[in-house]
Amino acid sequence: MRTFVARTVPLFLLLSLLASCGAPTAATPTTAPAAPTNAAAPSPAAPEPTTATNASGAAPATGDPIPIGIAVAQTSNVALFGQEQVAGAQVAEAYFNQNGGVNGRPIKVVLQDTGGDEAGTINAFNALINNDKVVAIVGPTLSQQAFAADPIADKAGVPIIGPSNTAKGIPEIGDYIARISAPVTAVAPNAVKAALEINPNIKKVMVLFAQNDAFSKSETVVFQHTVTDTFKLDLIGVQTFQTTDTDFTTQATNVLNAAPDLVIISGLAADSGNLVKQLRDLGYTGLIVGGNGLNTPNLFPVCKAQCDGIIVAQAYSYQADTPINQDFRAAFKAKQNKEPGQFSAQAFTAVQVLVEALTALDKTKKLADMDLAALRTALNKQILSGTYITPLGNISFTPPGDINQQQFYVARVKMSADGSSGAFEFIK
Ligand code: ALA
Repeated sequence: MRTFVARTVPLFLLLSLLASCGAPTAATPTTAPAAPTNAAAPSPAAPEPTTATNASGAAPATGDPIPIGIAVAQTSNVALFGQEQVAGAQVAEAYFNQNGGVNGRPIKVVLQDTGGDEAGTINAFNALINNDKVVAIVGPTLSQQAFAADPIADKAGVPIIGPSNTAKGIPEIGDYIARISAPVTAVAPNAVKAALEINPNIKKVMVLFAQNDAFSKSETVVFQHTVTDTFKLDLIGVQTFQTTDTDFTTQATNVLNAAPDLVIISGLAADSGNLVKQLRDLGYTGLIVGGNGLNTPNLFPVCKAQCDGIIVAQAYSYQADTPINQDFRAAFKAKQNKEPGQFSAQAFTAVQVLVEALTALDKTKKLADMDLAALRTALNKQILSGTYITPLGNISFTPPGDINQQQFYVARVKMSADGSSGAFEFIK
């Protein structure tokens, strides 16, 4: 069985994690948001093709770049996800430009930091739409942010591809909103099924969720339905917390008193990691299923050795044996020195969809002949009508903009004994 190991976490993330674990830190870490790159709006000038070719035979792209916005959390605790998304998007930018870009013209990913809240996301969207004049936006990180900011892009006629928004109702926000992150209904039940295969004697289940987060609230509904209706298990309790919480003594004590066979957590990474740690520290020994918020190697420094054994359903496996995934995996490893996780693969895929939709559109109606508003509208239509061979598998979109995806996986966290490194080990 192959595993991937994450040992490195950026300093600011490590410091904020230590702070959330209660360890003293010398100073409050700060990270400046990325400055807008002032990428040029699509230019009417067609690029001159170059004669040099790369391994795939396509000429590297040249000319004025096409700006694609990336609005994810580069700061705050949500950067535990956003950091992986930036890495995936940047690998996509280099990879697709090396392979000819959009009919010879390069793309440029324009980063705007959303932070972890709704206000920062709205600011990032406005900057990308009005200042950076992007053709489309990949983002934001959280469904909670998407419900606040996506309507702004929809009203402005700017296509959005949600790279990680998994709550119910995201594509229905508007005509310009699509996502490549499969919804909680498609992913979450797989983890419960896997837990029952590991321990067929599970009877009593306790569920915990972050009540101030749209995705966590959406996901827990699916988990609870899976427990009671699909598997006819006994849901003996539902506990709530906040994504900003660091002390889970009350919840952990309640779990210990109820003595479930399985605990299921829907939250973000830092809160959920601390909850897992405190559950284990208090003596809970049963199985733990984590939702999509626990699907990042950046969880490992939070719960360290206590992360061991967490079961997490996946919408991506770095082991997927397809040419595009092999290319993505190799490019990601070359840059990041580790295997890609789901958040990175989804960000790559979101950029890929835009590159391929732009390429197809340009063949039927030259991008350079359209003004930005017309291009954004035509691109939105093209996104929804295409099919794409991606690291997530062969995907397409439903009419409202949800992803059609066939293949899902389940992994289990495997930590080193001292908790200094960890891996997602695929079990399905
Ligand atoms: N899947 C999480 C969300 O939708 C990150 O917010």
